[in-house]
Amino acid sequence: MASATAAPALDGQKLEQFVFKAVEEVGATLNAALVVMGDRLGLYRALAEAGPLDPAGLAERTGTTERYVREWLNAQAAGGYVDYDPTSGRYSLPPEHAVALTDESSPAYLPGFFQFALGSASDYEHIVQAARDGGGFGWGEHGHDVLEGCERFFRPGYHTNVVAAWLPALEGVVEKLERGAQVADIGCGHGASTILMAEAFPRSRFVGSDYHDGSIATARVRAEEAGVADRVEFEVAPGADHPGSGYDLVTMFDCLHDMGDPAGAARHVRELLAPDGTWMIVEPAASDRVEQNFNPVGRVYYGFSTLVCTPASLSQEVGLALGAQAGEARIREIVEGAGFTRFRRAAETPLNFVFEARP
Ligand SMILES: C[S@@+](CC[C@H](N)C(=O)[O-])C[C@H]1O[C@@H](n2cnc3c(N)ncnc32)[C@H](O)[C@@H]1O
Repeated sequence: MASATAAPALDGQKLEQFVFKAVEEVGATLNAALVVMGDRLGLYRALAEAGPLDPAGLAERTGTTERYVREWLNAQAAGGYVDYDPTSGRYSLPPEHAVALTDESSPAYLPGFFQFALGSASDYEHIVQAARDGGGFGWGEHGHDVLEGCERFFRPGYHTNVVAAWLPALEGVVEKLERGAQVADIGCGHGASTILMAEAFPRSRFVGSDYHDGSIATARVRAEEAGVADRVEFEVAPGADHPGSGYDLVTMFDCLHDMGDPAGAARHVRELLAPDGTWMIVEPAASDRVEQNFNPVGRVYYGFSTLVCTPASLSQEVGLALGAQAGEARIREIVEGAGFTRFRRAAETPLNFVFEARP
C-alpha cells in the first residue's frame, strides 16, 4: 500500500551544491575568529609593514608561536585573505587587503565588523533561551566583543560620512553647528559619533546618552582621550528620558530600532527639540519589502537583528522589536506618529539610511 506522505524526490545535485556552499560558510564562520586573532596578535599589521614573510619571520616580529602562525597563515591563504608564494614559502597581504585589515580610519576597515559578529554569535546560547521563553537580552548583557566590536565597526563609516556628507545633507544644520548649537546624541554607545561631531564643531555643546551604564563609562574615557571633554557630557538615560530641552539637533545613530519603545523615544525627541530643530536618524539601509532584503547586506543585518537588536528591544518595556531591517515606511510611521510634520531620507550609503525629521 502506498504511503499517504511519500517523500519528495530529491535533486542530488542541488543537495550537493547546498552542502558545498555550507562548507564555504563553515570556513567563513571559523574565519571570524581567525580575523579577530590576526587583529589582536598584530599579524595583519606586521604583514602590512614588513611585506612577504614566512611563518617564522611573522612569529618573530609579533612575539607569537611559529606553529600557530603557520596554521593561521594557511587558513588565511586558503580563504584568499593573504597571498602565498610557493617558491619562497612566504605570505603577503595585497595592499587593498592591508587597508581593509589594518587601517582603522578607512571605511573599508573590517576587524571591528568581525569582532562584532563573533561576539554576537558567541552569545547565541542566551538567544536560544530567549527564543524559547519569549524573553529578551539587553545590550549591556553582551560581552566586550559586541560592545567594542560595534564601536569599531561603526566608527570608520561615521568618520567618513557624518561630517562630510550626512550633516550637510540636513537643512541648515552645519551652519548652526558652526555657530554653536546644542546637540543630543541618544543611544550613543561608546560615544564615537558624539566625539566625532564635537571634534568637528568646537563651538557646539553635546550631550550623549545611552541606557547602558558601562557604555557611558567608556564614552567618558573616550572623550577625555580625544580632548573634547570640555564640550561633551555623557549621561546614563533611556532614549525616552534624555535630559535637557531646546536642542538644535538630536541624533540617533543605529539605535532607534534597538529601543523597546521607539515611539515613546520619538515623542520625547519632539519635546527635546527647539521649534526649528532637527532630528537625524541613522538606521540600517533596508527595503520595506522583506524579500528585497534577501541579499548579502540584508543577511548580515537580519543576523545581527536576530542575535542582538531584536532581543535588546524585547528586553525593554513595550518591546516593539522593530528589527534592524525595519525599512523607511516603518520608521516614518514612528516619526510622524510622534507629531513630526516633515520626514525625508536625506542621505544614504550601501549600509545606512539617514533620515531628517523636523517638528
Ligand atoms: C548598535 S548600538 C549603536 C551605538 C552607537 N550609537 C554607535 O553608533 O556606535 C545601539 C545602542 O543603543 C543603545 N540602546 C538600546 N536601547 C536603548 C534605549 N531604550 N535607550 C537608550 N539607548 C538604548 C544600546 O545600549 C547601544 O549602545
